[in-house]
Amino acid sequence: MNRWCGKVAAVTGASAGIGAAIARSLVQKGMIVVGLARRKEKMEKELECVKDKGTFIARKLDITDECAIIHTFEWIKKEFGGVNVLVNNAGIAIPGQILDVETAIWKQTIDVNVLGTLRCTREAVKILKETCEEGHIININSVLGHRIPRTGNAFPLNVYPSTKFAITALTQTLEDELRGSRIKISSISPGLVKTEIFDFDKDVSGWPYLESEDIADAVVYALGTHPRVQLSDIMIRPVGEAF
Ligand SMILES: NC(=O)c1ccc[n+]([C@@H]2O[C@H](COP(=O)([O-])OP(=O)(O)OC[C@H]3O[C@@H](n4cnc5c(N)ncnc54)[C@H](OP(=O)(O)O)[C@@H]3O)[C@@H](O)[C@H]2O)c1
Repeated sequence: MNRWCGKVAAVTGASAGIGAAIARSLVQKGMIVVGLARRKEKMEKELECVKDKGTFIARKLDITDECAIIHTFEWIKKEFGGVNVLVNNAGIAIPGQILDVETAIWKQTIDVNVLGTLRCTREAVKILKETCEEGHIININSVLGHRIPRTGNAFPLNVYPSTKFAITALTQTLEDELRGSRIKISSISPGLVKTEIFDFDKDVSGWPYLESEDIADAVVYALGTHPRVQLSDIMIRPVGEAF
């Protein structure tokens, strides 16, 4: 991990949950972390207690806005000279049955979870290829990107697992495209994590869960692997998770 000290990481969805924990960990490891989310003030508040050798900069960004993404990554390059690590963490889950919800809900989920990841990855890789620096793209996937629990409609997951299966596929496709470069790509697939994304009083009440810091630990581990190591996917689940 020491080799990333003083290097630049962009973390999407750093205003809450897993993204905020990842941003905190990377700052503690000495990285310059640019947090990207729509709620800039919340990002600043989430990170205000981190007093360590790294730096945190909050930047407002909606990852469904392609022009804003291009502009943001140009700004990162101008301000910090490049970007080494991108953590594609921002994501949404809108519960419902696929056949019952409006097309707009399908589109919104795919736009954030899949297209947002693709757009940010393309801009980060463009910079990495210009600067010829070592890079690592980490996609926050899900166990639902590998298999679908049969809950008998108790917890209707809508198109969320479909978007995460897309993350599995695009991570593997990009690994192939990036062969021969100094850029690694990995997916981290958590089981249930206690954040705002699911309703812990209703939908998943009583289920075993992880804390966001458990996922941040996995990101630090992935980054710390030797340059020769291609870490394709880490699946990390709470003990006792049923599916
Ligand atoms: N919690 C779990 O059980 C679990 C399990 C497996 C995988 N995951 C994955 O982990 C990632 C983080 O989820 P979480 O549980 O930490 O959820 P969360 O607490 O709801 O946080 C989601 C984050 O995504 C950001 N975001 C949403 N839409 C955005 C947009 N259009 N542009 C920019 N940022 C956007 C939010 O920031 P703003 O609202 O400020 O924009 C927020 O920071 C997601 O990819 C999720 O699928 C979560």
